[in-house]
Amino acid sequence: MSAEILPTHTPTMFAAAVARTVSVLRSGGVAAVPTETVYGLAANAFSGPSVEAIYAAKGRPAHNPVIVHVASANLARECCADWTPLADRLAARFWPGPLTLILPRSDRIPDVVTAGGPTVGLRWPSPPFIQAVIRECGFPLAAPSANPSDRLSPTCAEHVAQGLGDRVPLIVDGGRCAVGIESTVVDVTGPVPRILRPGVITAAQVAEAAGLDAKGMSAASKAPSGDGPLRSPGQLTRHYSPRARLRVLDWADESDLARQIAPELSEGRPVHILTHTRIPSADRFPNVSFIPDDPEAFARAFYGYLHDCDARGAALIVVEALPPGGEWDGLRDRLLRASAA
Ligand code: TXA
Ligand code: MG
Repeated sequence: MSAEILPTHTPTMFAAAVARTVSVLRSGGVAAVPTETVYGLAANAFSGPSVEAIYAAKGRPAHNPVIVHVASANLARECCADWTPLADRLAARFWPGPLTLILPRSDRIPDVVTAGGPTVGLRWPSPPFIQAVIRECGFPLAAPSANPSDRLSPTCAEHVAQGLGDRVPLIVDGGRCAVGIESTVVDVTGPVPRILRPGVITAAQVAEAAGLDAKGMSAASKAPSGDGPLRSPGQLTRHYSPRARLRVLDWADESDLARQIAPELSEGRPVHILTHTRIPSADRFPNVSFIPDDPEAFARAFYGYLHDCDARGAALIVVEALPPGGEWDGLRDRLLRASAA
């Protein structure tokens, strides 16, 4: 099987792609669709067998819950048993957008969506295409990132085709994702929001929208990832990884950089370097890319860069250590996971 790829950049193509996607999803199938964060592999979230097809296509472990995408506050309420005041504040501020809210699940959500757990992750994405599909379907869409399990998330239709092109019937091409890394996941089941996965919406923005003071802020920003009890199921340590080895380094000058990666350089293996401040010279380091020192621009370009390095056969990817500051938390988290051995 080779996936049908449908463009959406004219009104006619957009309407045809909505109709085709709705027809595939209504008949219980899966379709890869663009969101503002990364491409998602979607299925009817109210249908257990449909969602099982997502797990099968991705090779996803059953203990990893899937995010449910809605396109209205009413549909969000249908998916949860208790729509909390905290959820209301955060949704009012950030939806549609790259924020996933963890809430007690309703009985409309099958076990396979939540990995058997008592909560469901809900998100209202911003692109008109996915919103049109959800409205037309009348049901929410379960959608994890549209990549084989444990590989890089896709930020354009070609990435999806490379990873899943022979395992899904339909890929909708909505161009490059505007955000570029996965949504911020926030547990809003308690009185204080808990960040389970950092993203471009920062802990400080979440705390502010929740009306929290400094003490509450620190609770919200605590333990964004890693090994603490707040860890999200399915947030495996090595995740979001390229095939190449990835190292995060700081270097004083070119000699220092060369010393730190001496084994790879001496074996003549292809080393790719991603910097945001210093650009090493091309004669010593032929594969250097520069992303501006701006967290939003960096997030937008980051996965695309890692996909390119893999496609070009990189053995080692060196990423210049990121600056401090909460607006870099999401990227720091992805780098940590991508560099985990
Ligand atoms: O931006 C995104 O969130 C993208 C797009 C497609 O919406 N989706 C995405 O899905 O990144 P996925 O499956 O690759 O990551 C979802 C993560 C899970 O690994 C899990 O950590 C967390 O969200 N999650 C989902 N449901 C949860 C729940 N009920 N409780 C805790 N964490 C949950
Ligand atoms: Mg994923």
